[in-house]
Amino acid sequence: SFPVVSVQELVKKPIITIPQHYVRLDDQQPDPSLPNGSRPMPMITPTIDMTRLVSGEDDDVELEKLHSTCKEWGLFQLVNHGVSSSILDRLKHEVEEFFKLPLEEKMKYKIREGEFEGYGNTPREAGKLDWSDRLYMITNPIHRRKPHLFPELPSSLRNTLESYFLELQKLATKLLCSMAKALKIDTKEMIEFFDDGMQSVRMTYYPPCPKPELVMGITPHSDATLLTILHQVNGVDGLQIKKDGVWFPVSFLPDALVVNVGDVLEIFSNGVYRSIEHRATTNSGKERMSVAFFLNPKFEAEVGPSPSLINPKNPPVFKRVGLEQYAKDFFVRKLYGKTYLQHMRIENG
Ligand code: SIN
Ligand code: FE2
Repeated sequence: SFPVVSVQELVKKPIITIPQHYVRLDDQQPDPSLPNGSRPMPMITPTIDMTRLVSGEDDDVELEKLHSTCKEWGLFQLVNHGVSSSILDRLKHEVEEFFKLPLEEKMKYKIREGEFEGYGNTPREAGKLDWSDRLYMITNPIHRRKPHLFPELPSSLRNTLESYFLELQKLATKLLCSMAKALKIDTKEMIEFFDDGMQSVRMTYYPPCPKPELVMGITPHSDATLLTILHQVNGVDGLQIKKDGVWFPVSFLPDALVVNVGDVLEIFSNGVYRSIEHRATTNSGKERMSVAFFLNPKFEAEVGPSPSLINPKNPPVFKRVGLEQYAKDFFVRKLYGKTYLQHMRIENG
């Protein structure tokens, strides 16, 4: 039957050698050394202050910063975001409790054959597995929730996630409206595009690895979303971004939320904003946990450049495709890096 493996279980026994299906091919190992042999310093990513952004003070200086950050980085940490520390503390506690459950409990949610939601992990390119266990579920629209997943979670986890989602939806609305303003897209058009859209969540557990240089916590990719909001619930770093062709570790403030421009936003902005390629590495000492909340347009929506941005001087640089088809293509093709966006690009001439 379909094998679901838990790395968390694997590391309970002393590991002499890393099983081969976790060992990355040479050129895909997380070696962050630069051509001259030095190691890149961890990067402090740009910081956006939500309070300043919504107040619009100082002639929209923060809005300008948001705009240039989304163009050049596609990733930032958000501070003064308004999500209370009590919700974040509860989230940390509940996620830790979930991964502490006995394996049989977690296996009730295991990924089923032919599906991509659930607990566990599925092989990446070259049949390699990520050094992590995850629970991935669609959470909105409500009728898309798989009956054996979200509704069956321990009630304290479910309630905490529900309150967290509400906070993040409010936050995402403000952010996307600010981005619309900066991009000169009609706010109504932006809201119409994403309001009550497809949302999903992924809780990930990265166990320590005795040989972190051989494995990958999560394979390099750009997010197939409009926007991703990530929280490193136990404050351990591990994310890396590819900037100007080089992988850099990124470090975040403990209470910050990490916001990622997804491919759908790159497409909607007709290439003005950029999704960034990223990956997660592991370390030999500390477990790491994160919660990623993914916001997408409605299933009925079409993914394509915003009509507000298209005119004879600015032709569309991406094709249009229904969200349902877009999501299907993305998961079926198990693509690597930013190759899916390449496939959506309209060739010039
Ligand atoms: C990702 O979702 O791409 C990375 C998540 C993480 O840093 O845990
Ligand atoms: Fe991601």
